[in-house]
Amino acid sequence: MDRCDGAWQGTGASPVYHGGDLAQARRRFPAAPEPWIDLSTGINPRPYRLPPLAAEAWTRLPEAAAVAELEAIAADTFGVADPGRVAATPGTQAAIQMLPHLLPGPRVAILGFTYQEHARVWREAGRSVTVVETMAELGRFDLGLVVNPNNPDGRLVPAADLAAAARAMAAAGRTLIVDEAFVEVMDPDDGVASQLPAAGAIVLRSFGKTWGLAGVRLGFVVGAPDFAAAMRRAFGPWAVSGPAIAAGRAALADHRWLAATRTRLRRDAARLDALLVAAGCRIRGGTPLFRFVEHDAATALVDRLGAAGIHVRRFPHDDRVLRFGLPGTVAAWRRLASALRPPSLDHASPDRTADDATSTDPASCEPVSATLPRAPDDRSHTALRARRTIVQQHSPGTSSPLRRHDGN
Ligand SMILES: Cc1ncc(COP(=O)(O)O)c(C=O)c1O
Repeated sequence: MDRCDGAWQGTGASPVYHGGDLAQARRRFPAAPEPWIDLSTGINPRPYRLPPLAAEAWTRLPEAAAVAELEAIAADTFGVADPGRVAATPGTQAAIQMLPHLLPGPRVAILGFTYQEHARVWREAGRSVTVVETMAELGRFDLGLVVNPNNPDGRLVPAADLAAAARAMAAAGRTLIVDEAFVEVMDPDDGVASQLPAAGAIVLRSFGKTWGLAGVRLGFVVGAPDFAAAMRRAFGPWAVSGPAIAAGRAALADHRWLAATRTRLRRDAARLDALLVAAGCRIRGGTPLFRFVEHDAATALVDRLGAAGIHVRRFPHDDRVLRFGLPGTVAAWRRLASALRPPSLDHASPDRTADDATSTDPASCEPVSATLPRAPDDRSHTALRARRTIVQQHSPGTSSPLRRHDGN
């Protein structure tokens, strides 16, 4: 079987390899059972349940007033007092691609290693991109970029440190960009959007990940009012679709769902950790939406999972590390537990049918089986916090085994 390098590729839209490409997984493991279980992304597998959308969401051009209402709801959810500072975009990725068109400055620093699209878009715009290891280094460039919590390792820079860096950079006429695509699943005070200086700082928020509705393509940019206005203008009219506006308005206003989801994701992430550790993985970090692990025989593990129709994220620069998203159904947890079990023990568990994996009943995702290691609910949050702290010790500022790579 091929090793990771060269085996997993980007697409015509971007040379960067991303998770979520089941077509590649199917080509590589043609005999795997269907349907595939896609654990290669950090998208919530139990999405917000949308109410039926009005026919006008599909048939009419989205009105500016509806976008403004969506932005006001988003501002409230993000703790941003002035809704004029929030601009809705057709996904965070689209906003990332727009940033070089709106922000001057020849020298860009990115706190690595991280989501690789950032480096790609700035380099393709002709800027000099340096991947740095510490916040202190970042502050010396025209533009600094931090993904927080980081994808894929969950590194978390405290919001107070980010706010202080943003103020210092703004005072020097520089800009700090914080990509908070995964922050909603963290503690509410981990987000920095509510603490930014009036200018010189920009925050990106994703709708797809936490609310599990990545196909909707909705994201937000938080910045100074004139920057938010420039972002709206750069995208032009009707950039955010009617269904995206309706979905965002319903989901973002449901704060109870978000609170319950945070709790559930932490519990599920702790359970996933237990399965992964039992399979010989060392947990390197992550967030409640994904776990980043190291395994001495990661390639063999990926092959075993692939043969079982389970897709996980590999990293072209290092074939010992993997990222696992959360299973979303009882059947998916069972299939994962069975595939992770060393082959010598596999006869202990009956095979599951492919149909099991299609269960979508959220109630069926409650604790499932005595065969799954379980983390007590009241300790899972503490466990995740503790691991996150360990990741923080790696960086910024100290040596990280991944520091020389900026790939994701
Ligand atoms: C750190 C980070 N930022 C932004 C994005 C893009 O998210 P969206 O789906 O909102 O475009 C991703 C997608 O994986 C990501 O990992």
